[in-house]
Amino acid sequence: MNVYRTKAELKAFVASTRAGGKTIGFVPTMGYLHEGHASLLRQARSENDIAVLSIFVNPLQFGPNEDLDRYPRDEERDLALARECGIDAVFMPSVQEMYPQQPLTSVIVHQITGRLCGASRPGHFDGVGTVVSKLFHLVMPDRAYFGLKDAQQLAVIQQMVDDLNFAVDIVPCPIVREPDGLALSSRNVYLSALQRQQAVVLSRTLAEAEQWLHRPEITVEQFLKLIVERIQTAKEAELDYAELLRYPSLQPLEPQQKTAELGEKLILALAVKFGATRLIDNRIFESAEG
Ligand code: PAF
Repeated sequence: MNVYRTKAELKAFVASTRAGGKTIGFVPTMGYLHEGHASLLRQARSENDIAVLSIFVNPLQFGPNEDLDRYPRDEERDLALARECGIDAVFMPSVQEMYPQQPLTSVIVHQITGRLCGASRPGHFDGVGTVVSKLFHLVMPDRAYFGLKDAQQLAVIQQMVDDLNFAVDIVPCPIVREPDGLALSSRNVYLSALQRQQAVVLSRTLAEAEQWLHRPEITVEQFLKLIVERIQTAKEAELDYAELLRYPSLQPLEPQQKTAELGEKLILALAVKFGATRLIDNRIFESAEG
């Protein structure tokens, strides 16, 4: 497995791979890899000739009061996992290498970024769009793999790829969960024992939501009230948002609409804080019509 820290080294590797007519599968990450990342790496490995992983904690996507400085890192463990998953090349640039000067250009996707994490974390998706487009230009992948846990990020990247004609297929990958249902996240390590116990409230609420969604008389507003009440049963939980939206447009629904009459793809998205740790999870419903 090759580890590259400079754009020049990576570009040389990509050029020779492309010259040999080989396909490239790409998994962009911020490191501190877990089984969720490993599932993306294995899929990239199995569907392409060459699999590339990037590890870069991107300062552009963190707000001033967010966890950039304390974002967990473990280079050695990440490289061991990448090796185990059969990755051919890892790109691990420094901040100076990625942003040698203050960038004056950013990639901004409108509308889809106005709600959910885009509303709670202003500027976050501008940072994601900008770094992912830089990475796509460097890695030139045929396919890029993104987890559905960050369903809004996936929608933003797909829109960016469509709007800007990037020659890459975006591959959505299922959420990987702990045995009790908690979605895997690099941020789970911050949870205290009690918070960890109560954090299952997200996945349990999403599981229970299905039956509420299909109740014949329930409106979007009443449905969301049930969701909020369920989250509040966890004493350590502080709700950031609970929203039911169209997916992938993330356009809102009418509060008085009956959920059972919604014949379109929907997302129920949750963000919940446990102390300083903010967890997200979601469930996509093909249609609420029952
Ligand atoms: O999902 C992530 O880890 C990051 O947002 C990404 C896509 C690697 C961009 O920094």
